[in-house]
Amino acid sequence: MGGRKQRPVLIVLTAVFILIISVGLASATIVGSKHDMSFLNSGANFSSTNEDEVCIFCHTPHGGISQDSSGNRVPLWNRSISQNETGFTPYSSPTLNATLGQPTGITLLCLSCHDGVSTLNTLINYGRFNPIVMDGGFDQIGDVWIGPGNPPGYPGANVGEGAAKNLANDHPVSFVFDAALISADAGGGPAKLQLPISSDPIKLFNNRLECATCHDPHEEGALAAGTFPFLRKSNQASGMCLTCHIK
Ligand code: HEC
Ligand code: HEC
Ligand code: HEC
Ligand code: HEC
Repeated sequence: MGGRKQRPVLIVLTAVFILIISVGLASATIVGSKHDMSFLNSGANFSSTNEDEVCIFCHTPHGGISQDSSGNRVPLWNRSISQNETGFTPYSSPTLNATLGQPTGITLLCLSCHDGVSTLNTLINYGRFNPIVMDGGFDQIGDVWIGPGNPPGYPGANVGEGAAKNLANDHPVSFVFDAALISADAGGGPAKLQLPISSDPIKLFNNRLECATCHDPHEEGALAAGTFPFLRKSNQASGMCLTCHIK
C-alpha cells in the first residue's frame, strides 16, 4: 500500500519536471518566430497557407544539399545555394585586411532567402505538400507585397537594401578570421581584433566569419522581439561588436 501514498508525490514531481522542460524550451525555439513559415504561425509576415512543418523551409532529412561547390559543408539544406556563388558585390574599404570574394558555405544558406531574388517556397524535397502555397503579406519595414501565391522577393529580409545580390553595405562575411588576420590588421601595433573565446555564443564556422557567426537562425532573440533580430547574443551597449573589435 506504500505505492498509493507515493503517487501524489510522483504526480507533483512529474508536473514540476514538465514545467521546467517547457520553460526551458520557451526560451529557445524557432516556433512562432519570423523564421517559422508554417501556417500555424499567424504572426509571420511571410507564411504558408498549407504547410504545417517548420524546419522544411530550410532542412530536409534526406537528399538535401550537403556542401557548396568549394566543399564547405552545410547542414542538410533543403534549398538550392549554387545560384548565389556568383554575382554578389562584396564589401570593400581602404582599411579592410580580409580577402573577400563571393559568399560561400553557411552564408549561402541565409542568402538562399535573403538575396532579394529567391522565392521562399522553392525547395528540394517538398514532403507532403507540393506546391507549398504562400500567403504573402505586409513587411514591417514598409515594403508592401500583398496577394496570393509566392512573393517575388522580400525586401525587409533582403540584406541588399534595394539592390538584389548586394553585400557592399553589409558587415564583411565569408572569410577566414584567424591569428594571421589579427596581426595583418594590427600592422605591427597592438591588436585591434580578437577571436571570440570558445564559450562565447558568437561562433566561427571552420574559422570563417559567416552570417550565422552573429545570427542564430533558430532563436529570434531573448530580449524584445525585433530589437535583437536572431542575434547570438545581446548587442546592448554594442557588446556583440566588442566581442571581436578592441575599440
Ligand atoms: C530559416 C531557416 C531555418 C529553419 C526554418 C531551421 N533552420 Fe536549422 N539551421 C539553419 C541554418 C542557416 C543553419 C546553419 C547555421 C547554424 O548552425 O546556426 C542551421 C543549422 C541547424 C543544425 C546544425 C547546427 C546546430 O545548431 O546543431 C540543426 C541540428 C538544425 N539546424 C535543426 C533545425 C530544426 C530541427 C529545425 C526545425 C525545428 C530547423 N533547424 C529550422 C536554418 C534554419
Ligand atoms: C527559408 C528562408 C529563410 C532563410 C534560409 C533565412 N531566413 Fe531570415 N527571414 C526569412 C523571412 C521570411 C523573414 C521575415 C521577414 C519579414 O517579416 O520582414 C526573415 C527574417 C530574418 C531576420 C529579422 C528581420 C527583421 O526584420 O526583424 C533576420 C535577422 C534574419 N532573417 C537573418 C537570417 C540569417 C542570418 C539567416 C541564415 C543564418 C537566415 N535569416 C536564413 C527567411 C529566411
Ligand atoms: C558582425 C555581425 C553580423 C553579421 C556577420 C551579420 N549580421 Fe545581420 N545583423 C547584425 C546586427 C547587430 C543586426 C541588428 C541591426 C540593428 O539593430 O541596427 C543585424 C540585422 C540583420 C537583419 C535585420 C534587418 C536589417 O537590415 O537590420 C537581417 C535581415 C540580417 N541582419 C541578415 C544578415 C545576413 C543575411 C547576413 C549575412 C550576409 C548577416 N546578417 C550578417 C549583425 C550581423
Ligand atoms: C565575430 C567577430 C566580429 C563581430 C562580432 C563583429 N565584427 Fe566587425 N569585423 C570583424 C572582422 C574579422 C573584420 C575584418 C577586419 C579586417 O579585415 O580588417 C570586421 C570588419 C568590420 C568593419 C570594416 C572594417 C574596415 O576596415 O573596413 C567594421 C566597420 C566593423 N567590422 C564593425 C562591426 C560592428 C559595428 C559590429 C557589431 C554590430 C561588428 N563589427 C561585429 C569581426 C567581427
